[in-house]
Amino acid sequence: MQNSRSIKIQEQDKEIEYKLLASIEELEQKGQITKWIDDHDILLYEYEGKIKAISNICRHFGGPVGYHKMKNGTFTCLWHNWQFSGKDGSCLTHPGLPLREYELKIVDNEIYINLLG
Ligand code: FES
Repeated sequence: MQNSRSIKIQEQDKEIEYKLLASIEELEQKGQITKWIDDHDILLYEYEGKIKAISNICRHFGGPVGYHKMKNGTFTCLWHNWQFSGKDGSCLTHPGLPLREYELKIVDNEIYINLLG
């Protein structure tokens, strides 16, 4: 069963909903996590000390970008080896086809994601 716990944060004039993605502890234990939240397939990881989340769905044919562990700051899609930067989800093999990067908030050691931002 998917955990749909969420928090609302006031940003400028809007109230933004962030959904619970994982705990810091879970990310530290696994190193990298892929998880479906609502209709979004998310790849959560740490890059140079920053926690980041990008789409886990490859821009080529939808393969799982985070199937393999990130290596030297780069994810390599399982299906046909397109490569994406862990820094910002940009595509290294086919520039101009980046993965979507999501906004995160860390509250009480839990990682929340804005799916609509
Ligand atoms: S689906 Fe990812 S490289 Fe083809």
